[in-house]
Amino acid sequence: MADTTIDIALTVNGEPISERVDARKTLVDFLRDDLFLTGSHVGCEHGFCGACTVRVNGEIVRGCLMLAAQCDGGTVETIEGLSDAGEIADLQAAFEQRNALQCGYCTPGMLVAAQALLKPGVIPTREEIREHLSGNYCRCTGYHAIVDAVEAVAQEREEARAGGKP
Ligand code: FES
Ligand code: FES
Repeated sequence: MADTTIDIALTVNGEPISERVDARKTLVDFLRDDLFLTGSHVGCEHGFCGACTVRVNGEIVRGCLMLAAQCDGGTVETIEGLSDAGEIADLQAAFEQRNALQCGYCTPGMLVAAQALLKPGVIPTREEIREHLSGNYCRCTGYHAIVDAVEAVAQEREEARAGGKP
């Protein structure tokens, strides 16, 4: 049988990684099965639910729609990396304070997606937050608390910026 494996080298959460993977393996399966980064979840496996959202070369992508092989030479950031770096500490705290998670299955993807919306100098409207997160399904919360949390962090970050805090 033909060998369908391929060698890839990429950076995951700041760590250089070299692995041999099946050419058909999705990025999220590679992260979970090979690197044991299980924070990225698998829901629909068809690009609908957003549970597998990660960043590749700075852009959010569906980890179930991308092959690990496509990330060869690239940079991947997962919820673990964003969390360890403290980049989303305020978002995580806001989700907890506002009960924006229940089972937590959607939460990693939701946080990675929300962080992509929060650009310096911009406070998105609630409508924009809803629109941006519309590809991330949550079966528990009804979304209201999630929008509350993201809106609060957007405002806090802008207040901090205006006040000269980093
Ligand atoms: S598991 Fe990737 S979008 Fe649902
Ligand atoms: S908290 Fe359960 S799916 Fe969102």
